[in-house]
Amino acid sequence: MSSPTLVLEARNIVKRYPGQVALNDVTFRAYAGCINVLIGENGAGKSTLMRILSGVEAPDGGEIFLNGSQVQIASPRDAAQHGIAIVHQELAVLANLDVSENIFLGREMTSIGFLVDRSGEDRRSVSALAQMRKPIEVNTQASGLSLGSRQVLEIARAVTHRSKILILDEPTSALSQEESEALFATIAELLKAGLTIIYISHRLEELMRLGDYFTVLRSGQVVGESVRGEVTRDWIVSTMSGRAAQDRAVSKRQQSDEIVLDVQDLSLASGAEDGSVQTALHGISFQVRKGEILGIYGLLGAGRTELLEVLAGLRVSSTGRVKLRGSMLRLGSVGQALEAGIVLVPEDRQRDGLIPELSVRENVVLAMAGEHWVSRARETAIVRELVRKLRMGVRDLELPVTALSGGNQQKVLLARCLVRSPLVLLLDEPTRGVDANAKVEIYHLLRELAGEGLSIVFTSSEIEETEELADRALVFCQGRISAELAGEAMTDSALMNAASPRTQLEQEALLGVATV
Ligand SMILES: Nc1ncnc2c1ncn2[C@@H]1O[C@H](COP(=O)(O)OP(=O)(O)OP(=O)(O)O)[C@@H](O)[C@H]1O
Ligand SMILES: [Mg+2]
Repeated sequence: MSSPTLVLEARNIVKRYPGQVALNDVTFRAYAGCINVLIGENGAGKSTLMRILSGVEAPDGGEIFLNGSQVQIASPRDAAQHGIAIVHQELAVLANLDVSENIFLGREMTSIGFLVDRSGEDRRSVSALAQMRKPIEVNTQASGLSLGSRQVLEIARAVTHRSKILILDEPTSALSQEESEALFATIAELLKAGLTIIYISHRLEELMRLGDYFTVLRSGQVVGESVRGEVTRDWIVSTMSGRAAQDRAVSKRQQSDEIVLDVQDLSLASGAEDGSVQTALHGISFQVRKGEILGIYGLLGAGRTELLEVLAGLRVSSTGRVKLRGSMLRLGSVGQALEAGIVLVPEDRQRDGLIPELSVRENVVLAMAGEHWVSRARETAIVRELVRKLRMGVRDLELPVTALSGGNQQKVLLARCLVRSPLVLLLDEPTRGVDANAKVEIYHLLRELAGEGLSIVFTSSEIEETEELADRALVFCQGRISAELAGEAMTDSALMNAASPRTQLEQEALLGVATV
């Protein structure tokens, strides 16, 4: 690589929160026209640093230089004026606006001086989304969009603006493999146009593939820097954690034959009651044994989330038979599903899960409400044990849950569900935003729980996760089960093939129909 030009330098940044130093004298550099990767475990301080660079939060110390001159970034507006755009980890899409309004939020285009130029905005939105290979109708309400689509929308918002530095804080955490590829293609275009990218992700393959410059944060300090060609996977993982990389291989457990969950001919109509988008499910039948971990793999929109939501009683217009330990479950009743012992950890922790006003402890014990009375001391002990088990490293359980890093918020949700001691645990993307080592911990924990007899059904858009965690996998494609894979048969290509929708021609070829 020709000698790089330093475009942004944050020097000696300090950020303190009550009881904690989130950034302790951090110096971070980004080079022009490159992908500058920032790595670190959950809670390392990555998002905090990015919030400072984008003017969302003020540092307690340090200086920021752009192209060699010191700048003040006191607000998001300042950041925008300096050409810095950010796609935040916790998405900020406004549900009651449509796609195009969201893209131009706060900087509406005007045609004759003051009137908002809707058709101009629509046109540019269409082209931004087309660049992302995501043909979302620009006049749909954002509330009807999946998490993945909303993430694409945020990225489109950042790219329609003429930014010079684009910060992407875990942009692919809710994207399927295919959508991630589209994002990478967009990033390649942006780089060609001279943009500088700052990129945060927990997906190691992605970092290895994209990164030009690497900075590793640990507990609020820079502990390593490197460049493409010198970086290895093991270096990333060990530098990040300060420990040797964990052994990823985990042995499979012995399973019982007892059927816990029996699903027969489950169907769901498309178009939910509230008008939001939902994938129709067609004749889904499968069983889950006691202590089994069943993976549901599929692309975005394959119907994975819908399946879990039907099982959790959240989708009313479903038909079919679901039996839990031999007893028929009434569909469409959350209360009954919960009582019977089916608990769902949702994908979107902001929309469906955590209550931001409550503390970490309160968010966890929420699920205990209605059960027999438990003393506060007992409550705290239960929560503390789960916090330890999940390696959350949270000392003060009375902190608001929003003060936790993204990955730790995910673990709070998991802790809440475990408090109920369920029979069947449904997990929608259980490690979204969780760092590599904590992922391994969560896998261990889930295996441990399965070993104790808990049946687990989880969805994943990550092939690696499916292969590593699932005893058996069902592949979903367009609302149908397209394959069931276990053991040796569960390979990258088998999963990918079964997940990809076939074209009319391929289908006919498979069915042996002459296609001359
Ligand atoms: N508003 C806040 N109040 C108190 N503490 C906070 C606040 N925001 C962040 N923190 C703390 O600062 C530390 C750094 O958090 P940050 O969100 O930057 O981590 P991260 O590296 O982005 O992690 P993740 O990979 O999980 O997103 C964490 O320990 C977090 O709990
Ligand atoms: Mg973060």
